[in-house]
Amino acid sequence: MPNNNCAIIVHGGAGDIPDQQVADHVDGCRLAAAAGWRILQDGGSAIDAMEAAIQMLEDLPVFDAGRGSYLTTDGIVEMDAIVMDGATLQMGATAGVQHVRHPITLARRIMERAPHNMLISAGAENFARECGLELCAAEWFETPYTRAVWQEYGRLPMLTGTVGCVARDATGALVAGTSTGGSDHKLPGRVGDVPLVGSGAYADNRSAAASATGDGDKIMRVVLSKTVCDLAGGGLPAAAAAKAAIATLAERTGGTAGIIIIDRSGRTGFAHNTRRMSRAWIDADGTLQAGIEPAAGST
Ligand code: GLY
Repeated sequence: MPNNNCAIIVHGGAGDIPDQQVADHVDGCRLAAAAGWRILQDGGSAIDAMEAAIQMLEDLPVFDAGRGSYLTTDGIVEMDAIVMDGATLQMGATAGVQHVRHPITLARRIMERAPHNMLISAGAENFARECGLELCAAEWFETPYTRAVWQEYGRLPMLTGTVGCVARDATGALVAGTSTGGSDHKLPGRVGDVPLVGSGAYADNRSAAASATGDGDKIMRVVLSKTVCDLAGGGLPAAAAAKAAIATLAERTGGTAGIIIIDRSGRTGFAHNTRRMSRAWIDADGTLQAGIEPAAGST
């Protein structure tokens, strides 16, 4: 019988995910949610579960995070990530890192060990080195697909495969994390929503925790993750809060995005106004569920 305080939900990005990538997206989300769930069921913490799930997604080249991140107009990878702990409101974030295999782990180390909340670029990579994190050559992050998208800009589908995870452990603690290579063909130095607290992720045990994906330049304008947590904290069920937050984004900015959420009672929810959003989740009954097409996202 599962520990019914626990819940986990992951996403693999929201956008026009092409048919030929649907199976890999959904399979990747399933694997990540299952990996995090095992940790939770063994009595592990929400942050360990979230980190394990996102590390797995960062290593899968179908997602725009870690290996598989999109290239900037200069043909290099610049990755962003964030972690937030709903018990303490502590957070760690990083932006513009080029060689860190798991940016989500760097964000966690920043939260736990740095005297600041966010480190970027070379300073962040130096900190990663001091923490003993794995660094990889720039070529490791590229895939034939990301190089082809760069070379044939505009002729291959533009995707948004940012990854994220929200977890709730046996103590009821909530954690959220998000990791991305950012938008396809972005300008060097561009930072999207992901490392901005309240935009790419937010967590507060008193309300909810959430992770966003999609058009980061619009997401940040409505602070999407904080918005959905506030709606849930005000009493809306998780799924309804997700739907309302996405409606606000669309109405106020015309943007497209997706959001996943677990509220303080452990209810999961999601919503997106993109063609697809890959996701997988497990909550009180211990059943793994997954999808990518638009659906009523509620439990
Ligand atoms: N949502 C990912 C980005 O825009 O960077």
